[in-house]
Amino acid sequence: MSEIPQAKVLLIEAGGHENLFMDIPLIVNLLQLSDELNWKFQTKPSDKYCLGMIDNSCSWPRGKVLGGSSVLNYMIATRGGAEDYDRWAKMGNDGWAYKDVLKYFKKLETINMPEMEADVAYRGTKGPLHVSSSTYRTPLAEAFLRAGQELGYPIVDYNGKNMIGFSYLQSTTVNGTRASSNSAYLHPIRQRKNLRVTLNSTVRKVLIDRRTNRVIGVEFAKDRRIISVFASKEVILCAGAIMSPQLLMLSGIGPSDHLTDLGIDFVHDAPSVGENLMDHIAYGGLTWLVKEPISLRLIDIFSSAYTSDFLTRRSGPLTIPGGCEALAFIDTKRPEEHSGLPDIEFLFVSSAIIGDLIQPIIMNFNNKERDTSYKYLGKHGWSILPLLLKPKSRGRIRLLANDISVKPEITPNYFDDPEDVRTMIAGIKNAMSVGRTKVMQAFGSELLNDTISGCEKYKYDSYAYWECAIRTLTITIYHYSGTCKMGPRGDATAVVDPELKVIGVRGLRIADASIMPEIISAHINLPVFMIAEKAADIIKEEWGYLKKSQS
Ligand SMILES: Cc1cc2nc3c(=O)[nH]c(=O)nc-3n(C[C@H](O)[C@H](O)[C@H](O)COP(=O)(O)OP(=O)(O)OC[C@H]3O[C@@H](n4cnc5c(N)ncnc54)[C@H](O)[C@@H]3O)c2cc1C
Ligand SMILES: *[C@@H]1O[C@H](CO)[C@@H](O)[C@H](O)[C@H]1NC(C)=O
Ligand SMILES: *[C@@H]1O[C@H](CO)[C@@H](O)[C@H](O)[C@H]1NC(C)=O
Ligand SMILES: *[C@@H]1O[C@H](CO)[C@@H](O)[C@H](O)[C@H]1NC(C)=O
Repeated sequence: MSEIPQAKVLLIEAGGHENLFMDIPLIVNLLQLSDELNWKFQTKPSDKYCLGMIDNSCSWPRGKVLGGSSVLNYMIATRGGAEDYDRWAKMGNDGWAYKDVLKYFKKLETINMPEMEADVAYRGTKGPLHVSSSTYRTPLAEAFLRAGQELGYPIVDYNGKNMIGFSYLQSTTVNGTRASSNSAYLHPIRQRKNLRVTLNSTVRKVLIDRRTNRVIGVEFAKDRRIISVFASKEVILCAGAIMSPQLLMLSGIGPSDHLTDLGIDFVHDAPSVGENLMDHIAYGGLTWLVKEPISLRLIDIFSSAYTSDFLTRRSGPLTIPGGCEALAFIDTKRPEEHSGLPDIEFLFVSSAIIGDLIQPIIMNFNNKERDTSYKYLGKHGWSILPLLLKPKSRGRIRLLANDISVKPEITPNYFDDPEDVRTMIAGIKNAMSVGRTKVMQAFGSELLNDTISGCEKYKYDSYAYWECAIRTLTITIYHYSGTCKMGPRGDATAVVDPELKVIGVRGLRIADASIMPEIISAHINLPVFMIAEKAADIIKEEWGYLKKSQS
């Protein structure tokens, strides 16, 4: 927005600055432990999922820092498939088909992988966000790709024409360190006179002129002061899928009965605010041990060889995002077809996540699950997290008080739809076949098969056993989305229209993961960057700074 000299932009962020420690790819797990950097949400206890966690509650981290969750995330760079966006368009979201959004995916990136740069139909070379591949690889990563070939899958650029197949990880990194939305977009332009940034500033609500239903500004708290700022053009909410609906509701836009119960004066009855909550979940119990010391272990991270590689050359194992080296997209329902949308992703981690020191802590494992995991502490191994890409289940966000400092109630409703259970179990079965390939067996890979605590009454490897297992070790992949759904005006489930304007008031837009009508079949950080790029163009057009034909 600040490219327009006449525009004045104020960016309001609750957190503080990003620093180098946050930008070392391998240790990303540790960031979630910080109270300063992480909002630390917890899901409402359930007897259907997150059963292996303390109080049956999953931890939902969120970045509280300039750059938001792009500073806390695993840097995995995926766009999703063409059909993902074509489905958005079919729901009535004109301008959001793949042919419309592809140019933003190209515009936002500079790709640092020579073998893909030539694919100019899909890849970009001039954007602010660098997308790279680690220069360091364990032998396990190459083996995983060869296992895919053994199973009949192609090796693909999943951000190119076709995403089904096996691939090395592409990450939002440059020179071996994290590229966040802050470092990619904000650093280079911080000196612009028409851009102000205020940190440690928590927005309490959006200010609305009740006579005209026009949004006139926001109120935020900084250094124990309450400050009101006014916008002559518009306010854009980018607080993410948990806090954007929270802020809407605190501002009087939400389900009227819910707001009335909490004593919030409602401005516009919008029953869909906070509904349609989606996330990607994985099963967290698939680790294979290997005999040779070839995997990444936390206890080695701070060894002098690793750190000196990183400090002197920005290379070596510390440049691997959270130990994730490769991934695969598969369609369990049409395994022979290698086109279209996948229903499962395998996230390949070249370490034993059962046996990791930090994983059980950040996942909030209860004592029993921690004990199982810590039996294997320090072992070498590899893991697959099978992710359910198009969940049918929907959750919701609700307020618990008329107060920004009270965290909202998060009900993910994981595995509410039985089809989600079936697809996830098919994903587990497919992942187990990777472990049985000749190339993985050559490492002596052995699947850890301890019965999951709480699932003792089921026969190991039966359907009922796996259903219990996924409801127990339910691992979020942190892709909260959908809670301020985009749809055409007239669609009762829509919160924003296809120009991202909040329906029912004027002068307010939302540009973040909350607008996704349906979650993308991949990690959603790049899709959020795309939404932001497109939002900027939509706004520039509306105010006459950009001709329609240019965009
Ligand atoms: C641990 C983790 C790992 C992830 N790994 C990946 C990955 O590898 N690949 C991938 O594609 N995606 C990943 N994601 C998801 C991805 O990072 C997010 O989907 C994306 O960053 C969401 O962007 P957003 O703009 O919707 O929200 P956010 O990035 O969460 O931004 C919201 C911002 O608003 C601020 N804010 C909120 N409320 C207020 C308020 N009241 N006042 C002021 N400021 C406020 C927050 O502090 C934050 O800076 C991960 C996420 C997490 C948490
Ligand atoms: C990456 O490192 C190279 C060599 O040190 C340097 O020239 C380049 O500017 C760096 N790129 C970025 C975006 O920091
Ligand atoms: C924000 O708050 C933190 C912790 O209170 C403080 O260390 C930091 O200096 C503050 N930053 C700004 C820009 O106000
Ligand atoms: C568990 O794994 C061990 C070692 O690979 C194997 O001997 C045993 O048969 C497995 N148990 C089950 C129930 O599959």
